Amino acid sequence: METPIYKDGAWRLDDPKLSYLTDEQVNAYLGLENTPSYSGAMHDAERQLIEKHKIEIIGMWPESIALIDLGSGPAEKTVVKAAEGKRRGKRVAFHPVDVNKRMLEIAGANARREGLEVFPHNCLIEDFERVIGEARKTAGAVYLNFGATHTNFPVSFLDKLGSAMKKGDFLYVSTQLRKKGEEAALVATYSSPLLEDFALGVLRHAGFERGEVEWKPVFVKDTVEHSSIVKRVPPRLAALGMKPGDRIVTHNSRKQTLGEFKEMLSQRFEPTVWTNGDGSFAIAVCRKK
Ligand SMILES: C[S@@+](CC[C@H](N)C(=O)[O-])C[C@H]1O[C@@H](n2cnc3c(N)ncnc32)[C@H](O)[C@@H]1O
Repeated sequence: METPIYKDGAWRLDDPKLSYLTDEQVNAYLGLENTPSYSGAMHDAERQLIEKHKIEIIGMWPESIALIDLGSGPAEKTVVKAAEGKRRGKRVAFHPVDVNKRMLEIAGANARREGLEVFPHNCLIEDFERVIGEARKTAGAVYLNFGATHTNFPVSFLDKLGSAMKKGDFLYVSTQLRKKGEEAALVATYSSPLLEDFALGVLRHAGFERGEVEWKPVFVKDTVEHSSIVKRVPPRLAALGMKPGDRIVTHNSRKQTLGEFKEMLSQRFEPTVWTNGDGSFAIAVCRKK
């Protein structure tokens, strides 16, 4: 059972891996992916940008590349780039990394269908140094595909990835963008039973049952905190000092403005950023400075 820690006015169970440990949680996530409101704002927007710019992205690659997909999930969007690279004569070694075995199986099947070589890593994203070391043996450069998963991690994690990169490597990140003044509307899109189920998956690890919390996402600084208000405290957590009315955060989704996103990247990397027509989504390929 996971033990939350109290920090910045809320109990934290927001380590990203906690959202994807069981089959039930994976089903909740895949259910979200297939929901038009969530999928439209996130996956479809990114897919369209990748389709539009994949030739430019692949044009940056050397003849041989290890595509390391950090938190691959089903990897459909990454496979689009890898398959196009292969069609254009590049040698692409696909290295999906995921804590969840079932996600890795789906990612592997999607990649093999395109004739790609697959080197699965059932481990934590935090193990990236070892994975990069192994992947370098199969290719001339690495392309770290972190996508929108970076928005669930602290910004400082990008510094860690940056220090494992060499000149000639790439980091790919993406994000749903926020416009100033839009925060309340953005949080309102999180009032969904599917997202509530996704949160409940994490809360169950800590000993809560349905009905013992009230789903209440909030916007803090630049992040939607997926959070719930505690109604009944499991005895183990009462012993830690948790009380009814306290807030528990189960996941973070950073939603930066385009300016914030570009600044975060250019402080650390040499990014090329593309946005969609309505300015609601951005993708970026970053080189080491
Ligand atoms: C939001 S999904 C993104 C899937 C895919 N990259 C995409 O953009 O559609 C996050 C994925 O990362 C995995 N994941 C989350 N935290 C992880 C961690 N610390 N280590 C390994 N995998 C992790 C989850 O199992 C899940 O498959």
